[in-house]
Amino acid sequence: MSYARIIGTGSAVPERVLTNHDLEAMIDTSDEWIRSRTGIERRHIAATGETTADLGECAARAALAAAGVKPQELDMIIVGTTTPDLVFPNVGILIQERIGANGCAAFSCEAACAGFLYALSVAEKFIRLGEARRVLVIGAETLSRFVDWTDRSTCVLFADGAGAVVLAPSEETGILKTHLYADGRYKDLLYFPSGVSKGFDSLKSGKDFVQMRGNEVFRIAVRELSRAAVRILDEAGIPGSDLDWMVPHQANLRIIEAISKRIELPMERVVVTIQEHGNTSAASVPLALDVAVRDGRIQRGQSLLLEAFGGGFTWGAALLRF
Ligand code: UT7
Repeated sequence: MSYARIIGTGSAVPERVLTNHDLEAMIDTSDEWIRSRTGIERRHIAATGETTADLGECAARAALAAAGVKPQELDMIIVGTTTPDLVFPNVGILIQERIGANGCAAFSCEAACAGFLYALSVAEKFIRLGEARRVLVIGAETLSRFVDWTDRSTCVLFADGAGAVVLAPSEETGILKTHLYADGRYKDLLYFPSGVSKGFDSLKSGKDFVQMRGNEVFRIAVRELSRAAVRILDEAGIPGSDLDWMVPHQANLRIIEAISKRIELPMERVVVTIQEHGNTSAASVPLALDVAVRDGRIQRGQSLLLEAFGGGFTWGAALLRF
């Protein structure tokens, strides 16, 4: 049986860093509150004019270089994002044209913070079915664009960045399983209120921003991500304590700790980058993955559990050998 395997990773963050202390000067908050409630210490914010495709392109180039794959060899590009540069062409096509991969399929996957896991799961199927041999999967966001910088309940959380992986077929074990979930009953707990069809009127008036009932999101994220992690590990017959690494969605350190406890995986084997990056939505998992690959923590052949949770709600998990 042939697997889809990650053969290269890459990431990119904007140059500008916004610390908790910077935020103290902008809104009624404190470094202590942000650190203790979320784990975030600083985050990267896109410069004026810097877009999701810019960050995604940088991450893509790094992943292609790490994989030793030329853009012309790509069969498909899939981008998980909720903050596209344009309504269309999609971000995948913008990146395709810039890197010179013209002709291959390219599309975006709109699943909020779970966008990268959704994209990875789709890419994996194309490779296992033999319909694609080289697929670039990207998670890229500029969430700072739809945050109300006077709303302390959201602006301290969200940030910008991108991560990417290249997938290829392999006889050695790669992606073992992916599970995707969504539940629209929770659509009012985390959402962005404007869109092409519904209209941008409130956006034009400068009053439309991401809306979140954080406390409720927190509770359901812990419950569903714990269930998803337990289910995927059970199905694969792998005890959580045997995993080499969990690479979780970086939304809140307390959510990450709760899941690590539930699957009995010590925090020393959990990749945590939230202190540096904040919540970068669909970029969060591939960004954390690339950081841990490049600093040598994650090694070839190790077992990894990836998970993410976001607006919709959408969520998912992936189990793989790196
Ligand atoms: O990636 C998508 C998924 N998103 C998530 O998973 C996010 C999940 N939710 C969370 O991470 C947490 O709910 C938050 C970090 C958003 C909030 O933490 P919390 O412990 O749930 O705080 P809270 O909303 O219950 O607020 C507690 C207090 C409130 O004050 P009172 O009413 O107790 O006086 C808030 O007004 O903290 C206050 N507060 C703040 N204080 C200082 C809220 N935001 C801030 C702030 N600085 N930035």
